[in-house]
Amino acid sequence: MPEGDATPVPDFTIDPLDGDEDLTGVLEVEDESFTNPWTRDMYRWELQNRQVCHIYVVRTADCRVAGFCAFWLVFDEIHINNVAIRPRFRGAGLGTALLRHVFREATRLGAHRATLEVRASNAGAIKLYERLGFREEGRRRQYYSQPVEDALILWRDEPPGGPD
Ligand SMILES: CC(C)(COP(=O)(O)OP(=O)(O)OC[C@H]1O[C@@H](n2cnc3c(N)ncnc32)[C@H](O)[C@@H]1OP(=O)(O)O)[C@@H](O)C(=O)NCCC(=O)NCCS
Repeated sequence: MPEGDATPVPDFTIDPLDGDEDLTGVLEVEDESFTNPWTRDMYRWELQNRQVCHIYVVRTADCRVAGFCAFWLVFDEIHINNVAIRPRFRGAGLGTALLRHVFREATRLGAHRATLEVRASNAGAIKLYERLGFREEGRRRQYYSQPVEDALILWRDEPPGGPD
């Protein structure tokens, strides 16, 4: 691709979720990204247990929450529940940077494996996950609604030598 055509990567930072304003941003990203978005109550319930429930947000200069990743830490595994980037920021590397950050944090917290479920038709996300080392290890039939669809169950082992 000619140099001028590449999507510019915006400057960004990645932080743990901090307060209600961040949660409002997360809910906006949910609404822009999923047909069945999680609600504020669902997140508030999750966030009662900060030992297990972890949320990181990506910030850009002009957007407090451009994307987020929510995961559970369960023993030495992380279960990624939601990851999304606002449509206008997609394809610029933020999703990759966010997941790599999450893997580093998870390792720091003692995790060595990561798992997630993804719609079987979500080719873009699956491509991203495979590039980050996830492999399909199972399938849940008709797991999703709106539309009804199978979930692929992906797992990722920490690469030898730690997270990259
Ligand atoms: C999946 C998602 C988080 C990726 O975030 P992102 O910031 O766009 O990802 P990146 O820019 O880091 O993309 C990295 C790679 O992912 C793949 N990818 C991401 N979106 C893609 C798409 N729509 N089509 C094809 N490949 C895609 C590509 O391999 C891409 O690499 P490339 O740009 O060199 O081709 C984002 O597309 C999103 O929020 N999607 C909607 C919500 C969702 O489906 N979440 C996952 C639920 S399990």
